[in-house]
Amino acid sequence: MKRKRLDAAAGLLREKAGGDLDCAIVLGSGFGAVLRDRIDGTTIPYRKIDGMPEPTIAGHAGEAHVGRLHDKRVVAFSGRFHLYEGRDATEVIYPVVAAALAGAKTIVLTNAAGGINADYRAGDVMLLVDQLNLTGQNPLTGVELLPGAGARFVDMVDAYAPHLRELARHMAAEYGIVLHDGVYAGLTGPTYETPAEIRYLRTIGADAVGMSTVLETIAARALGRDVVGFSLITNVHGSGAPTSHDDVLEVSQRSAEGVARLVEGIVANLDPA
Ligand code: 6GU
Repeated sequence: MKRKRLDAAAGLLREKAGGDLDCAIVLGSGFGAVLRDRIDGTTIPYRKIDGMPEPTIAGHAGEAHVGRLHDKRVVAFSGRFHLYEGRDATEVIYPVVAAALAGAKTIVLTNAAGGINADYRAGDVMLLVDQLNLTGQNPLTGVELLPGAGARFVDMVDAYAPHLRELARHMAAEYGIVLHDGVYAGLTGPTYETPAEIRYLRTIGADAVGMSTVLETIAARALGRDVVGFSLITNVHGSGAPTSHDDVLEVSQRSAEGVARLVEGIVANLDPA
Protein backbone atom coordinates (compact mmCIF):
# COMPACT_ATOMS: atom_id res chain seq x y z
CA MET A 1 0.00 0.00 0.00
CA LYS A 2 1.35 3.38 -1.00
CA ARG A 3 1.88 5.48 2.11
CA LYS A 4 1.77 8.74 0.14
CA ARG A 5 -1.60 7.99 -1.44
CA LEU A 6 -3.01 6.89 1.91
CA ASP A 7 -1.80 10.09 3.55
CA ALA A 8 -3.41 12.14 0.77
CA ALA A 9 -6.67 10.22 1.20
CA ALA A 10 -6.56 10.66 4.98
CA GLY A 11 -5.78 14.35 4.52
CA LEU A 12 -8.85 14.86 2.35
CA LEU A 13 -11.11 13.06 4.85
CA ARG A 14 -9.69 15.20 7.67
CA GLU A 15 -10.11 18.40 5.68
CA LYS A 16 -13.74 17.67 4.77
CA ALA A 17 -14.55 16.60 8.33
CA GLY A 18 -12.97 19.71 9.79
CA GLY A 19 -10.44 17.79 11.88
CA ASP A 20 -9.46 14.31 13.02
CA LEU A 21 -12.18 11.72 12.52
CA ASP A 22 -13.70 10.02 15.53
CA CYS A 23 -15.33 7.18 13.69
CA ALA A 24 -15.60 5.43 10.32
CA ILE A 25 -18.63 3.48 9.21
CA VAL A 26 -18.66 0.97 6.37
CA LEU A 27 -22.13 0.53 4.92
CA GLY A 28 -23.07 -2.89 3.57
CA SER A 29 -25.24 -3.61 0.52
CA GLY A 30 -28.42 -1.58 0.64
CA PHE A 31 -27.43 0.51 3.67
CA GLY A 32 -26.33 3.60 1.72
CA ALA A 33 -29.20 6.04 1.95
CA VAL A 34 -30.26 5.56 5.57
CA LEU A 35 -27.08 6.78 7.18
CA ARG A 36 -26.06 9.32 4.57
CA ASP A 37 -29.13 11.40 5.36
CA ARG A 38 -28.19 11.56 9.02
CA ILE A 39 -24.69 12.96 8.44
CA ASP A 40 -24.34 16.72 8.34
CA GLY A 41 -21.54 17.27 5.84
CA THR A 42 -20.43 16.59 2.30
CA THR A 43 -20.27 13.67 -0.12
CA ILE A 44 -16.99 12.78 -1.80
CA PRO A 45 -17.06 10.41 -4.79
CA TYR A 46 -14.44 7.70 -4.44
CA ARG A 47 -12.65 8.87 -7.59
CA LYS A 48 -11.65 12.07 -5.74
CA ILE A 49 -10.00 10.07 -2.94
CA ASP A 50 -6.37 9.24 -3.65
CA GLY A 51 -5.71 5.52 -4.07
CA MET A 52 -9.34 4.50 -3.67
CA PRO A 53 -10.51 1.80 -6.08
CA GLU A 54 -13.75 2.51 -8.00
CA PRO A 55 -16.58 0.06 -7.19
CA THR A 56 -18.74 -1.64 -9.77
CA ILE A 57 -21.40 -3.71 -8.02
CA ALA A 58 -25.11 -2.82 -7.93
CA GLY A 59 -26.10 -1.50 -4.51
CA HIS A 60 -22.64 -0.09 -3.86
CA ALA A 61 -22.58 3.61 -4.71
CA GLY A 62 -18.92 4.51 -4.26
CA GLU A 63 -19.00 7.63 -2.18
CA ALA A 64 -17.83 8.78 1.22
CA HIS A 65 -20.12 10.89 3.38
CA VAL A 66 -17.98 13.03 5.64
CA GLY A 67 -19.15 15.31 8.38
CA ARG A 68 -20.86 15.39 11.74
CA LEU A 69 -23.11 12.79 13.23
CA HIS A 70 -24.19 14.14 16.60
CA ASP A 71 -21.05 15.73 18.05
CA LYS A 72 -18.66 13.31 16.31
CA ARG A 73 -16.64 13.64 13.11
CA VAL A 74 -17.40 10.65 10.94
CA VAL A 75 -16.99 9.17 7.51
CA ALA A 76 -19.51 6.69 6.17
CA PHE A 77 -18.33 4.67 3.20
CA SER A 78 -21.14 3.77 0.86
CA GLY A 79 -19.66 1.10 -1.38
CA ARG A 80 -17.04 -1.38 -0.34
CA PHE A 81 -14.54 -3.57 -2.18
CA HIS A 82 -14.84 -7.33 -2.28
CA LEU A 83 -12.51 -10.19 -3.10
CA TYR A 84 -15.17 -11.57 -5.48
CA GLU A 85 -14.67 -8.52 -7.73
CA GLY A 86 -11.12 -9.67 -8.22
CA ARG A 87 -9.79 -7.09 -5.78
CA ASP A 88 -6.87 -7.95 -3.61
CA ALA A 89 -6.93 -7.72 0.17
CA THR A 90 -5.18 -4.33 0.19
CA GLU A 91 -7.96 -2.82 -1.97
CA VAL A 92 -10.61 -4.34 0.29
CA ILE A 93 -9.19 -2.64 3.38
CA TYR A 94 -8.30 0.69 1.75
CA PRO A 95 -11.23 2.77 3.07
CA VAL A 96 -10.76 1.49 6.63
CA VAL A 97 -7.03 2.16 6.59
CA ALA A 98 -7.49 5.67 5.12
CA ALA A 99 -10.08 6.50 7.79
CA ALA A 100 -7.89 5.09 10.55
CA LEU A 101 -4.99 7.25 9.37
CA ALA A 102 -7.41 10.22 9.42
CA GLY A 103 -7.81 9.57 13.13
CA ALA A 104 -10.86 7.31 13.35
CA LYS A 105 -10.57 5.44 16.63
CA THR A 106 -13.73 3.43 16.11
CA ILE A 107 -14.62 1.42 13.02
CA VAL A 108 -18.25 0.36 12.54
CA LEU A 109 -18.70 -2.41 9.97
CA THR A 110 -22.10 -3.37 8.59
CA ASN A 111 -22.99 -6.09 6.14
CA ALA A 112 -25.73 -8.23 4.71
CA ALA A 113 -25.32 -11.88 5.63
CA GLY A 114 -26.98 -15.24 5.33
CA GLY A 115 -28.31 -16.80 8.51
CA ILE A 116 -26.89 -20.16 9.58
CA ASN A 117 -28.07 -20.24 13.19
CA ALA A 118 -31.49 -21.92 13.20
CA ASP A 119 -32.91 -19.19 15.48
CA TYR A 120 -32.30 -16.44 12.92
CA ARG A 121 -34.99 -15.02 10.62
CA ALA A 122 -34.69 -12.78 7.58
CA GLY A 123 -34.64 -9.17 8.77
CA ASP A 124 -32.91 -9.96 12.10
CA VAL A 125 -29.77 -8.13 13.15
CA MET A 126 -26.68 -9.89 14.48
CA LEU A 127 -23.97 -8.25 16.59
CA LEU A 128 -20.62 -9.71 15.64
CA VAL A 129 -18.83 -11.17 18.66
CA ASP A 130 -16.16 -13.01 16.69
CA GLN A 131 -15.27 -14.04 13.17
CA LEU A 132 -13.98 -16.87 11.02
CA ASN A 133 -11.73 -15.62 8.25
CA LEU A 134 -12.29 -18.28 5.59
CA THR A 135 -11.18 -16.15 2.65
CA GLY A 136 -7.76 -17.77 2.51
CA GLN A 137 -6.29 -14.28 2.57
CA ASN A 138 -4.95 -11.89 5.13
CA PRO A 139 -4.38 -8.19 4.45
CA LEU A 140 -1.31 -8.14 6.73
CA THR A 141 0.80 -10.52 4.65
CA GLY A 142 3.70 -8.94 2.80
CA VAL A 143 7.23 -7.76 3.25
CA GLU A 144 6.24 -4.48 4.85
CA LEU A 145 3.88 -3.81 7.73
CA LEU A 146 0.55 -2.19 6.97
CA PRO A 147 1.11 1.61 7.15
CA GLY A 148 0.35 2.64 10.73
CA ALA A 149 0.55 -0.89 12.13
CA GLY A 150 2.61 -1.32 15.27
CA ALA A 151 3.49 -4.97 14.97
CA ARG A 152 3.63 -7.93 12.61
CA PHE A 153 1.58 -10.33 14.77
CA VAL A 154 -1.83 -9.06 15.77
CA ASP A 155 -3.93 -10.33 18.68
CA MET A 156 -7.43 -11.26 17.53
CA VAL A 157 -9.03 -12.01 20.91
CA ASP A 158 -11.89 -9.57 21.43
CA ALA A 159 -11.38 -8.24 17.91
CA TYR A 160 -14.92 -6.89 18.25
CA ALA A 161 -14.52 -4.52 21.20
CA PRO A 162 -16.35 -5.72 24.33
CA HIS A 163 -17.21 -2.17 25.44
CA LEU A 164 -18.79 -1.40 22.05
CA ARG A 165 -20.71 -4.68 22.10
CA GLU A 166 -22.04 -3.61 25.47
CA LEU A 167 -23.00 -0.22 24.08
CA ALA A 168 -24.70 -1.89 21.09
CA ARG A 169 -26.74 -4.13 23.43
CA HIS A 170 -27.73 -1.09 25.44
CA MET A 171 -28.88 0.85 22.35
CA ALA A 172 -30.75 -2.18 20.97
CA ALA A 173 -32.64 -2.57 24.26
CA GLU A 174 -33.48 1.11 24.25
CA TYR A 175 -34.81 0.97 20.68
CA GLY A 176 -36.54 -2.39 21.07
CA ILE A 177 -34.37 -4.00 18.39
CA VAL A 178 -33.69 -7.74 18.68
CA LEU A 179 -29.95 -8.25 18.46
CA HIS A 180 -28.38 -11.71 18.26
CA ASP A 181 -24.79 -12.28 19.39
CA GLY A 182 -23.07 -14.28 16.69
CA VAL A 183 -19.97 -15.40 14.84
CA TYR A 184 -19.57 -14.17 11.27
CA ALA A 185 -17.87 -16.34 8.68
CA GLY A 186 -16.30 -14.41 5.81
CA LEU A 187 -15.84 -16.21 2.48
CA THR A 188 -14.76 -14.88 -0.89
CA GLY A 189 -18.00 -15.66 -2.73
CA PRO A 190 -19.44 -14.85 -5.19
CA THR A 191 -21.30 -18.15 -5.00
CA TYR A 192 -23.70 -18.56 -2.14
CA GLU A 193 -23.14 -21.68 -0.07
CA THR A 194 -24.04 -25.24 -0.91
CA PRO A 195 -26.04 -27.18 1.69
CA ALA A 196 -22.86 -29.13 2.54
CA GLU A 197 -20.95 -25.90 3.06
CA ILE A 198 -23.69 -24.64 5.37
CA ARG A 199 -23.49 -27.84 7.45
CA TYR A 200 -19.73 -27.37 7.59
CA LEU A 201 -20.03 -23.70 8.63
CA ARG A 202 -22.56 -24.57 11.33
CA THR A 203 -20.23 -27.29 12.65
CA ILE A 204 -17.28 -24.94 12.94
CA GLY A 205 -19.29 -22.36 14.84
CA ALA A 206 -20.60 -19.82 12.35
CA ASP A 207 -23.94 -18.12 12.95
CA ALA A 208 -23.97 -16.06 9.76
CA VAL A 209 -22.04 -16.02 6.51
CA GLY A 210 -21.07 -13.27 4.11
CA MET A 211 -18.48 -11.99 1.66
CA SER A 212 -16.98 -9.02 3.50
CA THR A 213 -15.94 -7.56 6.85
CA VAL A 214 -13.34 -10.06 8.11
CA LEU A 215 -10.37 -8.46 6.34
CA GLU A 216 -11.46 -4.98 7.38
CA THR A 217 -11.61 -6.10 11.01
CA ILE A 218 -8.11 -7.57 10.76
CA ALA A 219 -6.76 -4.31 9.30
CA ALA A 220 -8.51 -2.19 11.93
CA ARG A 221 -7.09 -4.34 14.74
CA ALA A 222 -3.59 -4.14 13.26
CA LEU A 223 -3.99 -0.36 13.50
CA GLY A 224 -5.24 -0.59 17.09
CA ARG A 225 -8.75 0.64 16.30
CA ASP A 226 -11.92 -0.49 18.10
CA VAL A 227 -14.30 -2.45 15.89
CA VAL A 228 -18.02 -3.03 16.16
CA GLY A 229 -19.91 -5.03 13.54
CA PHE A 230 -23.51 -5.68 12.56
CA SER A 231 -24.92 -8.22 10.14
CA LEU A 232 -28.35 -7.79 8.71
CA ILE A 233 -29.65 -11.32 8.14
CA THR A 234 -31.17 -11.11 4.68
CA ASN A 235 -31.93 -14.77 4.07
CA VAL A 236 -31.82 -17.97 6.03
CA HIS A 237 -30.23 -21.19 4.91
CA GLY A 238 -32.43 -24.22 5.23
CA SER A 239 -35.60 -22.31 4.36
CA GLY A 240 -35.68 -24.18 1.05
CA ALA A 241 -35.69 -21.06 -1.10
CA PRO A 242 -32.62 -20.37 -3.22
CA THR A 243 -30.59 -17.29 -2.29
CA SER A 244 -30.79 -14.39 -4.72
CA HIS A 245 -28.95 -11.07 -4.78
CA ASP A 246 -32.25 -9.23 -5.34
CA ASP A 247 -33.71 -10.74 -2.16
CA VAL A 248 -30.58 -9.77 -0.26
CA LEU A 249 -30.86 -6.16 -1.43
CA GLU A 250 -34.61 -6.05 -0.82
CA VAL A 251 -34.38 -7.24 2.78
CA SER A 252 -31.39 -5.06 3.56
CA GLN A 253 -33.15 -1.96 2.26
CA ARG A 254 -36.25 -2.80 4.27
CA SER A 255 -34.43 -3.48 7.56
CA ALA A 256 -31.51 -1.08 7.20
CA GLU A 257 -33.37 1.49 9.28
CA GLY A 258 -32.87 -0.51 12.50
CA VAL A 259 -29.16 -0.94 11.87
CA ALA A 260 -28.86 2.76 11.05
CA ARG A 261 -30.44 3.68 14.38
CA LEU A 262 -28.09 1.35 16.23
CA VAL A 263 -25.06 2.80 14.48
CA GLU A 264 -26.24 6.33 15.15
CA GLY A 265 -26.80 5.51 18.82
CA ILE A 266 -23.32 4.04 19.12
CA VAL A 267 -21.67 7.05 17.50
CA ALA A 268 -23.63 9.45 19.70
CA ASN A 269 -22.41 7.61 22.81
CA LEU A 270 -18.75 7.14 21.87
CA ASP A 271 -16.33 8.66 24.33
CA PRO A 272 -15.39 12.19 23.32
CA ALA A 273 -12.09 12.29 21.39
CL1 6GU B 1 -26.54 -16.77 2.12
N1 6GU B 1 -24.07 -16.16 1.78
C1 6GU B 1 -23.08 -15.32 1.62
N2 6GU B 1 -21.85 -15.83 1.45
N3 6GU B 1 -23.22 -13.99 1.62
C2 6GU B 1 -24.45 -13.51 1.80
C3 6GU B 1 -25.53 -14.32 1.97
C4 6GU B 1 -25.30 -15.67 1.96
N4 6GU B 1 -26.63 -13.56 2.13
C5 6GU B 1 -26.22 -12.29 2.06
N5 6GU B 1 -24.90 -12.26 1.86
